[in-house]
Amino acid sequence: MDRLKQLKLKIKFLFGSLFYASYAPKAFLYTRKRDRIEREFIKPSTEPGFDKPGKLLRAEATVRGANFYFEMAELEVCFLTEDLVRINWKPGIPPIPYGIQRHEWPEVATNLEQTENNYSVSSHGLKVIVEIDGSLKFCDRSGQVIRAELPPQSKSESWIHQAQLRIEERIYGLGERASTLNLRAAKDEQQKSKTYRMWNYDAAGMYPPGSDPMYLCIPVYLGLHSLGSYLVFYENSFDANFTFGETATADFTGGALRYYFTSGSITQLLERYTELTGRAPLPARWALGYHQSKWGYRAEAAVRKEAREFQEHNLPLSAIHLDIDCQVGYRAFTIDPERFPQLASFTQELAEIGVQFIAILNPGIKYSRHSNLFLEGQILDGFCKLPNGKLVVAPVWPGWCVFPDFTNPKVRSWWSRQYAYLLDVGVAGFWHDMNEPAAFIISGDRSLPKVTQHYLEGRGGDHREAHNVYGLLQAEAGYESLRQFRPEKRPFIVSRAGWAGLQRYAWTWTGDIESSWGALRQTISTVVGLGLSGVPYSGPDIGGFQGNPSAELYLRWFQMSSFLTFCRTHSSNNVEHRTPWTYGEPYLSIIRSFLQLRYRLLPYFYNLSWEAAQKGYPPVRPVLWAANDDSRLWDVEDAFLLGDALLVCPIVEDGARSRQVILPPGNWYSFWDDSCFVGGQEVNVPAPLETIPLLVKAGSILPMVENKQLILHLYPPEQGETFTQLYSDAGDGYGASRIDKFQMVRSGNGLEVTWEETGDYSFPYTSIKLHLHGMKLQQAWVDNVEVAGQGQQLECDRFIKVQLKVLSIEC
Ligand code: NOJ
Repeated sequence: MDRLKQLKLKIKFLFGSLFYASYAPKAFLYTRKRDRIEREFIKPSTEPGFDKPGKLLRAEATVRGANFYFEMAELEVCFLTEDLVRINWKPGIPPIPYGIQRHEWPEVATNLEQTENNYSVSSHGLKVIVEIDGSLKFCDRSGQVIRAELPPQSKSESWIHQAQLRIEERIYGLGERASTLNLRAAKDEQQKSKTYRMWNYDAAGMYPPGSDPMYLCIPVYLGLHSLGSYLVFYENSFDANFTFGETATADFTGGALRYYFTSGSITQLLERYTELTGRAPLPARWALGYHQSKWGYRAEAAVRKEAREFQEHNLPLSAIHLDIDCQVGYRAFTIDPERFPQLASFTQELAEIGVQFIAILNPGIKYSRHSNLFLEGQILDGFCKLPNGKLVVAPVWPGWCVFPDFTNPKVRSWWSRQYAYLLDVGVAGFWHDMNEPAAFIISGDRSLPKVTQHYLEGRGGDHREAHNVYGLLQAEAGYESLRQFRPEKRPFIVSRAGWAGLQRYAWTWTGDIESSWGALRQTISTVVGLGLSGVPYSGPDIGGFQGNPSAELYLRWFQMSSFLTFCRTHSSNNVEHRTPWTYGEPYLSIIRSFLQLRYRLLPYFYNLSWEAAQKGYPPVRPVLWAANDDSRLWDVEDAFLLGDALLVCPIVEDGARSRQVILPPGNWYSFWDDSCFVGGQEVNVPAPLETIPLLVKAGSILPMVENKQLILHLYPPEQGETFTQLYSDAGDGYGASRIDKFQMVRSGNGLEVTWEETGDYSFPYTSIKLHLHGMKLQQAWVDNVEVAGQGQQLECDRFIKVQLKVLSIEC
């Protein structure tokens, strides 16, 4: 780097640091005040607890299961479906069902049985054995014990819940985690096990891999062992510690012990969990494109210049995100009219070149009588207060702020109305930041005092319960607003914090990750873990938030992110401005080719989004998804599947030009040159700077688009048939749609492709081209008429059946 550039970066860093430092006095005052308030108002609980629920006294059958009465506790076993059961230990104040989407379930036949030593309550799909001491066993359809729980312990106002883990058992999930993919593999200093905290937390400024907690905690995890897999979701939003050693321990600081259990294959687990907590609606197609962001676009001219440069460099771009710099005094729902004088025509100008304008939004409202939002919220009595009735005031970007109490439906609806005028001027989506909620501090917790009072739908409670659902409820208010005020388009919200069910309203990103190779590697587990926790749309700041990545690190990060659902470059205000052209050649050309590939893959991405909306499957999947009984795949955390067809193996080491790839069963073709690898083994795959190992599963029909033509890339199955459905619609809104069903049947050197069209949306492509991989075309018939193909390609108009005689290239 030349000296001038270095000097500029140093100055930028200095200014950035001064910017942060300018908040220090307020942070200091707030920290002291918060500590004083918590000392004053937190009263130690006097409720006695118990180590065990005592002896089981009696059991009675209920419509969906059974109730069990112990000396000191009650247990309710309620089957929602044959393979999903809700367990409720009492006493405890029932949770407000913020995480739950589905409340009504069809009837399930259940049966209560008593044996000599215990009881069991079962459906056709699952059996729960209840022992006299309150320990539970969950058995799957075949009678295997999939999970064994110890009797729960009550500690005054809360619960400790433990389950035995099998030696080989792996654990995944817990929302956003900067940990190993298998959460049980990470160890703390004592090298025993790692404890994960359930408390949404602003990992402010820059966090390294291993940090805990993170912004978006979800008390859901999947267990996978040699007998099968299961999922447990605790419907408890209180602060908790989850530890996975010999046992899985969930230690809550408050709330009831209510949880859901389901067992089955990984796909079934995701399907059930998202049936319970909701699925991510289909996003607008543009959202799957590339997003450019920067803490530093202050005015219209800078944004226009950025958008133009994308055009000049022939780089596709779908959205530009504006950070707090575009606001007036960093205040929510403002965009400075001096710096964005013609916002409506400017957003229109961007939309005409296919670029959406996304605005940031923080929940903290400037505490000032000169702030309309403050006055409105006050009239509504909608801000969080202390037990003594005083407003909770804490420092965030606008200075001293107050915080809307999103647990009050009136506040949510007031907040919802605020988006309307920005929607009217063409703001296409919103970026919810700092919504853990975050506050600036010197030490301790970066949020509101624990004793902060919340409405909690009229039942009342404090921040210990409301904290983790704060971002979720803000996202709900935002989503409802976009549905109401712009009903013809699909909402786009990206939220830093959330809880179970966030997927119903928003996407997320992995916050202020440091710029390092370790962080790049970390991102894979974080994003995959989020997907397994029901949140299918996420991605990192490409290149990392804090720090200046080397050209190679940015490139490798970009290559990986091209295959994640949320693909966005973003960076801090004190680092070098970062765009795909920042590092010059050859990096720019390589990034361009990956971006173009992403856009060519949009039919595939969009189809995966549709699948996520239908079934809850995350588009970005752990490699074990391909064969979850293959234990070789359980710890693979440096690669991921994009859908079932693509195995993406990012390069996460400086200077690496090849890498080891653990292949799931079946044959796999290199996307780049069709070389074929036999699955079930570990292979070394080249990775020059221009590519990362990208493998396509044999049997896949990979849909891509080029110049409005649909290209079906056919990767033949060894024998037999495979089937693909391709969803299409206008890309936004709620109109007509279609599903094209393609079947590929291979027998010897014959390959047959059939196409069935369904739905009311007209075919959005000019024609179809079949592109063969691992085979050479010898003869072709389209609807029984012989046609000429070229090499490995066959141009087709519409067809019902294509028959091909091929010469297969052996794997
Ligand atoms: C924190 C967010 O994580 C980051 O992405 C953003 O740039 C800053 N806040 C400034 O708004």
